[in-house]
This record gives sequence, structure tokens and C-alpha cells, in this order.
Amino acid sequence: MKENSGSALWRRAKRIIPGGNQLLSKRSEQFLPDLWPAYYSRAQGVQVWDLDENRYIDMCIAGIGACPLGYADPDVDGAVKEAIRKGSMCTLNCPEEVELAETLLHLHPWAGMVRYARGGGEAMAIAVRIARAYTGRDRIAFCGYHGWHDWYLAANLADDHNLDGQLLPGLAPRGVPRSLKGTALPFRYNNLGDLEEIARRYGGEIAAVVMEPVRDREPEKGFLEGAARIAEELGALFVIDEVSAGFRLNTGGAHLRYKLQPDIAVFAKAMSNGYPMAAVIGREDPMQAAQETFISSTYWTERIGPTAAIATIEKYLRRDVPGHLVRAGRQVQEGWQKAADSAGLPIEIAGIAPLAHFSFRIAEKDEAQTLFSQLMLERGFLAGKSFYATLAHTDEHIRDYITACEEVLGLIADGVSRGTVLQMLKGPVAHAGFRRLT
Ligand SMILES: Cc1ncc(COP(=O)(O)O)c(C=O)c1O
Repeated sequence: MKENSGSALWRRAKRIIPGGNQLLSKRSEQFLPDLWPAYYSRAQGVQVWDLDENRYIDMCIAGIGACPLGYADPDVDGAVKEAIRKGSMCTLNCPEEVELAETLLHLHPWAGMVRYARGGGEAMAIAVRIARAYTGRDRIAFCGYHGWHDWYLAANLADDHNLDGQLLPGLAPRGVPRSLKGTALPFRYNNLGDLEEIARRYGGEIAAVVMEPVRDREPEKGFLEGAARIAEELGALFVIDEVSAGFRLNTGGAHLRYKLQPDIAVFAKAMSNGYPMAAVIGREDPMQAAQETFISSTYWTERIGPTAAIATIEKYLRRDVPGHLVRAGRQVQEGWQKAADSAGLPIEIAGIAPLAHFSFRIAEKDEAQTLFSQLMLERGFLAGKSFYATLAHTDEHIRDYITACEEVLGLIADGVSRGTVLQMLKGPVAHAGFRRLT
């Protein structure tokens, strides 16, 4: 493979930007070290052009879940351009904040108030701050991944492996004050026993139970209700993180599907299709605690985020976007299984349909995953272990992708049986989790 201009730029970036970029999941090393195109010049729908004008079909992470309508959606971009024309920032507030709040409260009738941020992790930090301010307690029981902030990474101060089995193994807590040790207490999804144990040990010291409603697996019967009950019994807030699950299975929080009434729910990513926006919605009483602590930031007041969110949600309501995302995700999950079965390669498929992923169940799984990305790239697809569905993915895109998967999994199976997977790679093996880049 000839060196791509993007790979060369990525090498330059790593010399002057620690880690190369701002998000672990977009590092080339997560997919195809040295060979991933790394940068885009244009993106439209599901098409992506790299710096050398090579065109790929994106069957990968769709802007890490931030673009469920596809890239450069004309309706959202049209609304944003109009907002820019009218002025994106001002001494006065933008009225779109109020319109969006009313829309979110209409979609989630249990909630009474809304605050905004621009990123998922910072919105989660706001939710945790509100919970601590409201309850006057410090400890947080949590399940899953919730961002990079101190409150969350504190979990790994107690034991370097606390966050293993959550989402990103090996997240390092260096720089997080050691005095936060014991303030973030992890429990596993579908394991109420873990949470019961935390409740037994720390009882009235818990400020919040924080979790995603669903992600890799459907909740087992009684799990979500049990977590809600424990939070209530403890007098802790039940905080649902919808940063990734929200606006995929339905228009609004996935918790609505499970008839949950949390105290707070947090949205970002999918709600604004590629423009920074995040919302913390909650019952009026705890949300008022946001006035008893200081939560305030300049760019949380700009106009583009709420404008994009309003346009995105309008399109969701017009087009049954979640119906499309679920259908597309299922087609891909079924296609992976069929391709793997005919190649005779064991794989495991997980994730809600719109956020699907698979992994090889073989000894050389990381090598095979890297080879998958390499061979798919050669066939014109950005592809890795995850497929995040968008409205822009048509049946034809999925059919072509699955046809390519069938061929590629066949080649990988061949490599596995001959023991040549590593030799088939044209670069190093992809990283499996968090690792310091040099
Ligand atoms: C469930 C969940 N919470 C929080 C975050 C952090 O969001 P952000 O990357 O926008 O800070 C993510 C990101 O993947 C997420 O999936």
C-alpha cells in the first residue's frame, strides 16, 4: 500500500499534539497503525474523501456516533448556516436554548428543567456535580464509560483495574487527586449484586447511581428497575447517561423504552448531528441545585449547538430515523454473522443494533481485527469492529459492505488456518485499549 498523505500527517501530528488528536477512538492505532487515512478532506452522507481524494464508504463509527443522520446533513447544515448568518454569539442569549428545552421536556415528560453543555463528558460532570450538590454526599456508584473527568477516573485510584470490564480498559488516573480515592465505585451491567454490595457498604454516602440504560446488551429483567429502586432507597439521584444510547432506538432517551423515570438524564452526540451540543435534563427539585454550585461556561451559550439539535430532532420526528438505524444495524449484525459462519470464523456480536460491534473469538483476534480493517480499506470501506448506523446508510451500502465482509472474512479464515495472519498485515497490529502513544 502506498503511503497515504493522511498517515504522514498523523506522524507529524503525534510529534506536536500529545496522543496525536483529542479522542482515543479516532487514533489511527485503533484501526490500522501506519496505514489508516487518518484525516478527511470532505464528508457527505456516508462518503468520506481522504487527503489524497480517495473516496471511502464509512461503515465504521460515523464520527463516533455523533452523526446519526449522516455527514453534512442538508437540513441540519441549512439551519446552522442560517444561525451563523444571524450571528452565532452575542451579549444576549439565543432563544433556541428555550425552544430546545421545551422540545426535550416534551419528549421526556418526567423532567422539568434543562441545562446545557457541549460535550458528553462535561455534561456528565455537570450531572455528577448537581447530584453531589443536591445530596451533600461525595460517593458515586457507576456502571460503564462516562468520559475523562476527575470524578470518573477517580475509580481507578483505588485499584488500577476498576474500570476494566467497563468500556475502556487501562484508563490511567494520573493527575487525578489521590484524595478522590473511593469516591467512584463501579458496578457491572446486569449485576445488581454489585450495586447491592456498594449500597450495603456505603449506604447514605452515595450521591448518585450513574449508568447507561443499555449499550452492549439488553438489560435483564428487573436490572434497571432494581438500580432505580436502590438509588431511591439510598436517597441518591438516579442518573441515566444517554450520551451514546440516546436518539438511536427512539426519539429521545432509550430509558423511555424501559419506562424508567430517572432524576437526571444526559444527552450529547446524536442529538445535534455533528455540532457540539449536550443537555442535562432532570426533575425540577434536583436541577435547582445547579444554582447552589457554580456551573457556567462561555461557549455553552453559543447558538449553533441548540440550532443543530432542534433541526436534528425535527428530522427524527419527520423521518422515523430510529426505525432506520435499528433496521440498518440489524442487517449489518446479521450480515457479519452470516459472513463469519460461511468463513468458519467464530465471532461475537454485541451492542444495540444502531451501535453494533463484533470481535473475533480466536487467539489472534487483534491481528485479525487489524487485517479486517486493512482488507476492507483496500475495498473502499472505512471499517473496524464497530458499525454505527446512520440515516444515510442505504440497503445498497449495506449489501456491498456485507459482500466485501464475506470475501475478507474468507481471506482471514484462510490466513488463520495457514498461520499467516501476521504476515498478511502491511503494518503493526492495532491497539486494543488505552495505550500511551509515542
Ligand atoms: C456513555 C457515554 N458517556 C459519556 C461519553 C463522553 O462523551 P464525550 O466524548 O462527548 O465527552 C461517551 C463517549 O463516548 C459515552 O459513550
